[in-house]
Amino acid sequence: MTQRTTTNSGAPVASDQHSQSVGADGAIALTDHYLVEKLAQFNRERVPERVVHAKGGGAFGTFTTTNDVSQYTRAALFQPGVETEMLARFSSVAGEQGSPDTWRDPRGFALKFYTTEGNYDLVGNNTPVFFIKDGIKFPDFIRSQKRLPGSNLRDHDMQWDFWTLQPESAHQVTWLMGDRGLPASWRHMDGFGSHTYQWINAAGERFWVKYHFETDQGNDFMAQDVADQLAGSDGDYYIRDLYEAIDGNDFPSWTLYVQVMPYDEAAEYRFNPFDLTKVWPKGDYPLIEVGRMELNRNPENYFAEIEQAAFAPSNFVPGIAASPDKMLQARIFSYADAHRYRVGTNHAELPVNRPHATEAASYSKNGAMRHTFHAPETPVYAPNSFGGPHADPEAHGDDRGWESDGALIRSAATLHPEDDDFGQAGTLVREVLDDAARERLVGNIVGHVSKVRIPEIRERVLAYWANVDAWLGEQVAARLPEITDPKSTLVEPPATAPVG
Ligand code: HEM
Repeated sequence: MTQRTTTNSGAPVASDQHSQSVGADGAIALTDHYLVEKLAQFNRERVPERVVHAKGGGAFGTFTTTNDVSQYTRAALFQPGVETEMLARFSSVAGEQGSPDTWRDPRGFALKFYTTEGNYDLVGNNTPVFFIKDGIKFPDFIRSQKRLPGSNLRDHDMQWDFWTLQPESAHQVTWLMGDRGLPASWRHMDGFGSHTYQWINAAGERFWVKYHFETDQGNDFMAQDVADQLAGSDGDYYIRDLYEAIDGNDFPSWTLYVQVMPYDEAAEYRFNPFDLTKVWPKGDYPLIEVGRMELNRNPENYFAEIEQAAFAPSNFVPGIAASPDKMLQARIFSYADAHRYRVGTNHAELPVNRPHATEAASYSKNGAMRHTFHAPETPVYAPNSFGGPHADPEAHGDDRGWESDGALIRSAATLHPEDDDFGQAGTLVREVLDDAARERLVGNIVGHVSKVRIPEIRERVLAYWANVDAWLGEQVAARLPEITDPKSTLVEPPATAPVG
């Protein structure tokens, strides 16, 4: 006999076909509590979508440390031979949950490692840099990429207005308009930690590191016209590609490398090594292999395991810590706060978010939907004299610091000789891209900017690209079609000079 359907409280249900009514065609009765439960539960099926990176997919897998990097970090997961269960979620940034996968955008590359010393999250992108370098700009940046308040349309004037008013965006926008802005699939893109992080070894020595996950499938991109076509015919193209590959035992993998900067070199480096708009040249800091990540298990339930997954840059483990990067510090606040709102106060109790290789022993208690608790005799405060968990200064990982001093100010001080906005973007165009990639870059920029209808913004866009590279600026200017339906002129933008 098949199992009987029950209410959420376990009582048998009489029908999923007919509501209770007064006679065959009479009014529905409020006493039909099962109908009420069914409709009410349905109304509450959604949690708010992520404010950014709403559209995504993911899978579980294993990270194996293949090389000995213990001279740089004592993190348990990065010790030679250690295998760690993990979760990856890939995403687009600006589009909503139902948006097509193949809109041009950076792609999220969020990882959760279930280590023996707690969960370590590395929440990065498929680009090594970002649009801005101070978290106070993040809400403005994202609003400029989303929708107009009146029409609810996305708007190229708004996007390019913000970018050109924030020239520090140039390096990331160059990546975005190039091939990396449209990967062939999530399996065919690299991932980056993007920020500079701190590693600490067993002797307490500190290092600055950058993470690079190189795809073993080979980096590959999608042509703009193919992406446009797929946006209409198969909006979930990337989700399907990942799911079907894993379902067919074709497990994608990535090799992790790090760049390591000795702690004391940061102060005198030629540019600020904590500036998220810059990469560290590999000639200065070569890649050191760490290990391999393989995705080999699809989620069984998308909502429970991917939608409710909560990745937070504040989830550090011993041996890994933050850096002076201002963006990273803003993110360390922002994500857990988003999770408390989006999923709930006790989001960390959910199976996908709780530690798998160790147990949480925190003094947090109660709150909506709490369902785990300590034995009644466990003390609920610290310090205590009754054997409750105790903080361990030897094990701390996330409060390793750095030397810093000064008055409380707002500053965009450039203390290093190469702290400029356009230099590395130009190097990317001239020295990293080949002729064909440069040609696609011009085509993508022209296609994108041709939707800008405000003449003043167009002018700023041309100056922006000329600052990145003179040849690129000329090409864009020469190929950009005239504006056929210009919009009204702008109010003069406010000065964005740094406050010293
Ligand atoms: C998602 C904030 C910069 C990568 C999110 C979410 C918030 C957020 C609130 C949604 C979290 C959730 O609801 O689960 C911020 C702020 C930033 C910032 C305030 C700047 C100060 C960045 C940067 C990167 C990044 C620089 C990459 C290097 C991601 C990714 C996700 C995400 C990959 C999706 C995580 C997932 O798959 O669940 N961000 N973000 N963000 N962010 Fe950021």
